[in-house]
Amino acid sequence: MHDNFKNWKLPKFNKSGMTRWNWMCQYSENLKLGKNTDIGAFTYINANFGVDIEDYVEIGSGCSIYSNNTIDEITGKVIIKKNAKIGTHCTIMPGVTIGENAVIGAYSFVKNNIPANSVAYGVPAKVIKKAAVSDGKIQIAKPYIDDEDKKAVMDVLESGWLSLGPKYKEFEQNMASYVGTKYACAVSSGTSGLHLAVIALGLKEGDEVITTPFSFVASSNCLLYEKVKPVFVDIEEETFNLDPDKIESAITKKTKAILVVHIFGQSARMDKIMKIARKYKLKVIEDSCESLGARFQDKMTGTFGDIGVYSFYPNKQMTTGEGAVIVTNSKRLYELCDSLRNQGRGLRESKKGKDWDWLMSERLGYNYRMDEMSAALGITQLKKIDSMIEKRRRIVGLYKKHLEDIKNLIIPTVGKDRTHTWFVYVIQVINGKRDQLMSDLSSAGIQVRPYLPAIHLQKFMKKMFGFKKGDFPVCEKISSQTLAIPFYIGLDEDNIKYIAARIRKILK
Ligand SMILES: Cc1ncc(COP(=O)(O)O)c(C=O)c1O
Repeated sequence: MHDNFKNWKLPKFNKSGMTRWNWMCQYSENLKLGKNTDIGAFTYINANFGVDIEDYVEIGSGCSIYSNNTIDEITGKVIIKKNAKIGTHCTIMPGVTIGENAVIGAYSFVKNNIPANSVAYGVPAKVIKKAAVSDGKIQIAKPYIDDEDKKAVMDVLESGWLSLGPKYKEFEQNMASYVGTKYACAVSSGTSGLHLAVIALGLKEGDEVITTPFSFVASSNCLLYEKVKPVFVDIEEETFNLDPDKIESAITKKTKAILVVHIFGQSARMDKIMKIARKYKLKVIEDSCESLGARFQDKMTGTFGDIGVYSFYPNKQMTTGEGAVIVTNSKRLYELCDSLRNQGRGLRESKKGKDWDWLMSERLGYNYRMDEMSAALGITQLKKIDSMIEKRRRIVGLYKKHLEDIKNLIIPTVGKDRTHTWFVYVIQVINGKRDQLMSDLSSAGIQVRPYLPAIHLQKFMKKMFGFKKGDFPVCEKISSQTLAIPFYIGLDEDNIKYIAARIRKILK
């Protein structure tokens, strides 16, 4: 099939490194090549009638791509779309389009178009399954919603009772019994739950609260809402949690509480933290927004201190859409939060028992209520929380299998005495290539995030308190090395292999 060779160009290396032409490739005029393509050795491209190879395409060695076939005189432009991968020794015939993210198995003979996001193989090549990158990208997180969840929400909608009905009360009882506290109070978000915790504990302007700079910004913002000063203490390198050994030196006369964050689904060292809190008579708020179900020794995170808060934003271990639950063993704190979330209303005796005094407020309050649809979803999600956590743990096992031998990469570990419930999967890149890896993964359709930017270096925090680089060196180092990669129930081993292969390629 090789026609006349008079127009053929010699193989060449593009020194910019954008296109990696390997040894002894041949191609003719009318070849359009995108960025970051990788063409294997001995590949032959007849582009007389046009061959477009888009960005990030990878072609194995020994492939033949024809835009005209001189034996039966078929001609037609070949288009290989972004991110497609073609195995070694494939033949692509004139007029074929290979869709974005498609994967063609080695030794295939491709004479028909191959749709985007599919894996094709054979002579002639046929689609055998969806590609690892199926909808153009692998998302970083996705909620796990089944038919029972959908029905529960629909039932509420059909009942017409959308707020302050029976569902939020049932959800609260179930949450309290799951985590092992006397009371639970459902609210509209983790942020509003933390805000109420700060108010309920009587923290106010002039008070200081010790907390971590390595967290989602809401864990400090809840203090700022009440003009309470966050006093940051650096973190442990292994678990990224508040380092208890550094707490005591940060305590002053103004210190009133410790706000612990169990970051990424793993507990802080609560034995030491509670000991310090007792010694200095400090209140403890646990931001357990990322750690539902995780234990320190035998106790659930969120249940050690005065108040704990769990968020159910859709990327969490379970979801209610927006929403959260505050837990406590104190009746007084529960009743305060109960009133504060509902415009500061008080309960009064009525014929039906205790009921809200709808138009009379006892204190300044908020609308931080959880609606009935969210609560109904919470009930069905909580029923399967242990199996959902188990599924997350299996994905962690697969990541470990495919990532643990990659150089310059640290995979997450679980500290002594704790269980981990894996809100996210965060890896560390230790050769300074974190940002390069993030941009490569993004271009390959893999969603990533720099988890987490240090709170003290957020623009508004620097402005308010004069924080600067170097204030919390462990946090800053971890923050410059970490990234979260896709992690959700449904991520399969093919996805993980694909992600691991991209990581390996950059960090090798
Ligand atoms: C550590 C931490 N604290 C607080 C929050 C706030 O929760 P929400 O998004 O439900 O307001 C989050 C949530 O994403 C979080 O990760």
